[in-house]
Parts: sequence; C-alpha cells; structure tokens
Amino acid sequence: MIITSAKIEGFKNLKSISLLPDERYNIITGKNAQGKTNLLEAMWILTGCKSFRGSKEKDYIGVDANKMISEICIKDSRRNQKISYELRKSGSSVKNLHLNEVKLKGTSGLFDVFKCISFTPDDTEIIKGAPEKRRNFIDMALSQLNPSAVSHITKHNVIINQRNSLLKNIAQGLSKPEELDAWNVQASREGVYISYMRNAYIKQLNEVCRRLYGQITGEKEILEIVYSSNVFKTLDFENPFDENAVRQYYNRLCEMTEYDVKTGCTHTGANRDDIIIKINGFNAREFGSQGQIKSTALVIKLAQAEIYSKKSSEPPVVFLDDVMGELDESRQKLVFDIIKNMQVFITTCNESALLPEIKGKIFCVRNGEII
Ligand SMILES: Nc1ncnc2c1ncn2[C@@H]1O[C@H](COP(=O)(O)OP(=O)(O)O)[C@@H](O)[C@H]1O
Ligand SMILES: [Mg+2]
Repeated sequence: MIITSAKIEGFKNLKSISLLPDERYNIITGKNAQGKTNLLEAMWILTGCKSFRGSKEKDYIGVDANKMISEICIKDSRRNQKISYELRKSGSSVKNLHLNEVKLKGTSGLFDVFKCISFTPDDTEIIKGAPEKRRNFIDMALSQLNPSAVSHITKHNVIINQRNSLLKNIAQGLSKPEELDAWNVQASREGVYISYMRNAYIKQLNEVCRRLYGQITGEKEILEIVYSSNVFKTLDFENPFDENAVRQYYNRLCEMTEYDVKTGCTHTGANRDDIIIKINGFNAREFGSQGQIKSTALVIKLAQAEIYSKKSSEPPVVFLDDVMGELDESRQKLVFDIIKNMQVFITTCNESALLPEIKGKIFCVRNGEII
C-alpha cells in the first residue's frame, strides 16, 4: 500500500500542505519544532487510531485555525481510495469523516483501510510505561492484522465499564450482587477470546523479536517476550479455547467479586493483563539500560512490520519519526532490510545521518509549510 497524495490544512502548526509522495522513500527534513512530526501525525489519524503521541482530538486544530482537514489518497494492488477527516472548532457538524466520499459514523470505520506502522521515540513507553501501554500496543497490532479483533476488544471494554458501574451500585446498595452474574458470563466469553488471541500474537512476536534482537546485539543478548495473563498460566494456553477455558475465567471472576465490589472495579481478566519483556532473563522495564530499551522498542516495531507484511499481501506504509538519526549503520541496515518493500516517510533534522542508499523525495518543512 502507498500514499499517492496528501492534503493537510490547519492541523496544529501546518498551514496548507499538498504532497505527492515518492513510492519508496520520503524524507521530511527541517529544524526542530517546524512541523515534521505534525505532518506524519496528520496522516496517521487516518488509520482510525488515536494520535501516536497521545494528542487529543481537540488539539488537532491549529490555535489560529477554526478547522483542520487531512486527506490522503492511497493505492493498493486492488484499488485507489480516498480518506478525508475534517474537524471544526464549532458548528453543527464538528467532525466529518469520509471514505471514498461516503460519510462514516466514526473513526472505527477507518480500521483496516489505511495500513500504517509508526516508529517514534515514544515507542520506548511500550517497555517502560504502565501495563496499559503494552495492552494498547498489542490490541492495535491485532486490530490491524485481524479487523474482527476490534469488535471483541470494544465489546469487552463496554462489558467491563458496565460491570464496574454495577460494582459501585452494589457497594452503595443500589443494585443486587446477583446482577453481576450476567456480566461475568459475558466478560468471560470476550475475555478468554482476547487473552488467547493476544497470547498467540505475543508468541509469534517473541520468535521474531528474539531473532532480530540477536541480530542487532551480535547474539550477545536474548530478548524474550511473554504474555502474562492473570487467569491463565502460560501452559494453560496449550489447552484449546473451549468451554473449560471460559469456565476457568468465569470462576476466577467470581472468586474476586468481593474485592471488586469493595474497590469498585474489575481486577481479573484481560483488562489487567500484561506483557513481560526480558533481556537475558531480567525484566527490561526495571533493569534495562536506555540503549537496551531503545533497541527493544525498535525490534518490537520491526517484528510487528514483519509479521504484518508476511500475513498480508499489502505491505503497510511506514513512518519513522526521528528514529533513524540515532541508529548506527548496522541498525539502520536491519530496519531497511525489513521494510524493503514498503513506502517509508522518514523525519530527521539531519539527512546526512541517513544511509546513502536512501534516496527519494525530500520535503523540507519550515514553520508549518513545505518549502
Ligand atoms: N494546536 C496547535 N496549534 C498550533 N501549533 C501547534 C499546535 N500544537 C503544536 N503546535 C506547534 O507545532 C510545532 C511542533 O511541531 P512538530 O511537528 O512536533 O515539530 P518537529 O518538526 O520538531 O517534528 C511547535 O512549534 C508547536 O508549537
Ligand atoms: Mg518531531
């Protein structure tokens, strides 16, 4: 898949930008704080995912603008498509999303249309951040691989939110404890599905990461990633995903009910799972050096890109935000070896730090404009 054209207006500091990208390499240069990352972010939101740097929707619109528009045309082996996203500060229709000129109800309608993988300095949060960051990473990766995952994840979130409200009502004597059972049954079905799906993905990710991490450390360090469920042990996942697994999950939910009511939230299940990342047997979150954490983040994202392109006949578009300049030649080579069939957008303050073989279109951003 490639982006054939992009039009952006009023997104953060970006003024009016029109791009006709190269099919392979696109290098976005410029000094700091000129709008390079904003340019990637403006296109990224068309994946239907939240901003890769955590910006809220209301902050997409430039402080001096009253609306923002981001529009791209994409091409894959089957067809050309157009995605557009318009956001206004006020008025009746604040948000307008269109796919091939047809209005969409929400951003979830964009999942599975524009496939993109972003590498950003914030990726280290996957290792260093709270468990939620790791769950989000894996859920997003799963959703891109398998669009039906989205509906299970969304449904599970809704169930847990409802269950949490009910827990609070029970604590206040407004609802009866018996009412929980219906939610436990539903939470078990979805929760087991999500746990098994995540575990299978992490298994696959682990294999690829182990190989890539060995490659960049000259086989001196071993990276290991395991899914840590608070219902199932690793060996339990060898059992089939069946009624017994659902019962095991359900029983665990029931066992914890008293504590859940006391605290007003659900402590058991996929909503509390984590991913354990170890280097040479030590938890990278606690013991990893800055260099190890950066390399791990890179390897995890590369593995995501590799798994993705093997599964899909349409390779994703790749965004490399400020990550290449920091990498030595052998790490850059590894990155480009894996993304060799993909369209790439690279932002950098220093194009001379890029490998000489990276040649394509250069866009220089200054003060929100391409010059
Ligand atoms: N909502 C906004 N409206 C206008 N400017 C913004 C907004 N949000 C961020 N900016 C500006 O965007 C610039 C940062 O852009 P960024 O793309 O991160 O730069 P870089 O080129 O370093 O990647 C800063 O000058 C910042 O003030
Ligand atoms: Mg930047």
